[in-house]
Amino acid sequence: MKGLILAAGRGTRLRPLTHTRPKPVIRVAGRPILHYGLENLLQAGIEEIGVVVSPETEKDIREALAGYRVRYILQEEPQGLAHAVAVARDFLGQSPFVLYLGDNLFQKGIAHFLQAFTPGVSAVIALVRVENPSQFGVAVLEGERIVRLLEKPKEPPSDLAVAGVYVFTPEVLEVIEGLKPSARGEYEITDAIQGLIDRGKRVVGVEVEGWWKDTGRPADLLDANRLLLEELLPRVEGEVVESQLTGRVVVEKGARVRKSTVIGPAFIGEGAVVEGAYIGPFTSLGPGAKVVRSEVEYSILEDHAVLEDVALRLQESILGVGAQVKSRNGLPRAHRLILGDLSQVELA
Ligand code: G1P
Repeated sequence: MKGLILAAGRGTRLRPLTHTRPKPVIRVAGRPILHYGLENLLQAGIEEIGVVVSPETEKDIREALAGYRVRYILQEEPQGLAHAVAVARDFLGQSPFVLYLGDNLFQKGIAHFLQAFTPGVSAVIALVRVENPSQFGVAVLEGERIVRLLEKPKEPPSDLAVAGVYVFTPEVLEVIEGLKPSARGEYEITDAIQGLIDRGKRVVGVEVEGWWKDTGRPADLLDANRLLLEELLPRVEGEVVESQLTGRVVVEKGARVRKSTVIGPAFIGEGAVVEGAYIGPFTSLGPGAKVVRSEVEYSILEDHAVLEDVALRLQESILGVGAQVKSRNGLPRAHRLILGDLSQVELA
């Protein structure tokens, strides 16, 4: 069994964060999203893992995965998930494989999907009941068998969304070869699976255990951060001086917390600085981030982001790498903003 992680996407719904960095390297609960998927595959006993990257994402993905042994496969053009699988043909060879969408998170891992991959089964598809199925691939089940699969249908025939894990025999590669692009001009993995069904192959759906998150939008990132922080094991390796830590808090090595209040669950990354500050529940600070004389909760600060002397508490916020929010003294009493394209600021 091999593993194939897709990490070539543009992540347009997460702009401006994804203007400069690919979605799977954004940190939730202190680690790049991609780490969780990779760990899921490793825990399921899959060691031969390929990661599909694009010319734009390759550098950042390689950096985020430094230390992991994986094979990188380049998808030159973003032509859909099925196309990404086709590009990995040489890596996959004649092996069955798990296809894992790099922006998906599964609380309970993926081992139980593999258990359903018994002889005679051509594909196992992870399914999850959602309130907004038209934003996903949607399955129609008969017993455990999937009889129909539609990509983001306007009128969804069920509430069973396709979550981002699939187990395939190499048969799917043959179907992909004959695939035509969809209305949105992509080679859809959903169409490839429908192709298997049309050929009379056995495609089974298995419902996700525990929570599942597709980190497509900013609110999903914050929610994923919350869910992962809920499972945090407290650990203090950095320096904590004249401060109060309550609940589950991680202070990584090299981090400094001074004259501050931290209410967990919260993650304070390596080398981060918290001074005269309040860090509230469900907050993650990336390596080297700084919160000084300010308050923040239910937020993500990425590497080296800075929050300094800001009077009003920051909430439900995401600061990208190196982003800075500081207060300005003196006159004129005005906001001064230098924001990248598609940035969002809500002033109270
Ligand atoms: C993709 C798939 C969709 C699936 C979703 C899960 O959509 O095309 O069938 O439900 O992942 O995350 P995307 O998120 O790439 O739009």
